[in-house]
Amino acid sequence: MIMLPVAGVPIDQFAANPENHDQAQEAIAQAERTLARLQDCRLDWKTDCKPEHFFVRPDGSIALIDLERLRLRKKPLPKDYRNMQLRRFRSLLPKPFNHGLPRIVSRRRLRRAKMASNNQGALASN
Ligand SMILES: Nc1ncnc2c1ncn2[C@@H]1O[C@H](COP(=O)(O)OP(=O)(O)OP(=O)(O)O)[C@@H](O)[C@H]1O
Ligand SMILES: [Mg+2]
Repeated sequence: MIMLPVAGVPIDQFAANPENHDQAQEAIAQAERTLARLQDCRLDWKTDCKPEHFFVRPDGSIALIDLERLRLRKKPLPKDYRNMQLRRFRSLLPKPFNHGLPRIVSRRRLRRAKMASNNQGALASN
């Protein structure tokens, strides 16, 4: 899949910018509606449904990037699974938009961070 560059900023950055204080809540609500729409259409974005992949465009609309893990499921996504995706999305937003949730990061991301810190340790000890 080839994607054109999307103009705008990822919604976590957008919400963290005090200049966007007034628009942030609505932009987040719109991103959450977009996620719900994907889920309604049985489109499973797995753990990639995170704020850094939701761009707020200059006109205020939401664009999605990094869709390579998106899959069409045969059956509706279970309620628990939908909630997990929403909680993960919210947990990765800056305060006060994160509903007080601790950051839910994927195992893949944790593995990568661990490898990076091991590599740094190896470099530092060289
Ligand atoms: N179409 C696009 N328009 C604007 N910026 C983009 C676009 N695609 C990627 N980027 C920028 O590059 C960053 C990394 O891109 P992307 O999320 O596709 O790859 P990745 O996170 O490195 O890989 P993966 O999520 O598959 O592990 C994004 O967070 C975004 O800032
Ligand atoms: Mg990505």
